[in-house]
Amino acid sequence: MNSITVRDKEFVSYLTEDQIQQRIVKLAEELTTDYKDKNPLFIGVLNGSFMFVADLMKQLSIDCEIAFIRLSSYAGMESTGNVKQVLGLQDNVFGRHIVLLEDIVDSGLTMEQTVAFFEDRGPKSIEIATLLLKPESLEKDLSLKYVGFEIPEKFVVGYGLDYDGHGRNLKDIYQLKEG
Ligand code: PRP
Repeated sequence: MNSITVRDKEFVSYLTEDQIQQRIVKLAEELTTDYKDKNPLFIGVLNGSFMFVADLMKQLSIDCEIAFIRLSSYAGMESTGNVKQVLGLQDNVFGRHIVLLEDIVDSGLTMEQTVAFFEDRGPKSIEIATLLLKPESLEKDLSLKYVGFEIPEKFVVGYGLDYDGHGRNLKDIYQLKEG
């Protein structure tokens, strides 16, 4: 199996570039059906979502707008549970169809706080599209309409996801090697 080292840890191949891209095409088809003629505002949550947002947007030909926010919650490999402020929003979201774009929903804390932030600003609708979801880690009651892959509770890196800031540039997604 294809394995790599990021910093001090070994990871094994989990989702290939092809698998990721094929799933993104399907998600884009769903979004096209649901948001055609609605001029949605897609909002990527930095940093992890940058590759997912770019590849998903390239598969969409509907009229839409794209923005990014920042909101960080992890230090090293553990969720601190200490979710910070939403930063960087410059668009008026009142009356807009909002789709939040995430690389991964883990505990769900980040998305819970982000959805609450946007709900206060009067959007017409708000949905979440996440490439990855760890159902066993999810602690929050979130409506997750668009999910690329449900994955086990193991740490993953690549395709925007980092281990201590490293590995975001990898085209595939890798899982922490056992033992
Ligand atoms: C990651 C990921 C999500 C969040 C998910 O971001 O991109 O935003 O954690 O975890 P949760 O569901 O437990 O809240 P991180 O804080 O690591 O920042 P990053 O996107 O800059 O890597």
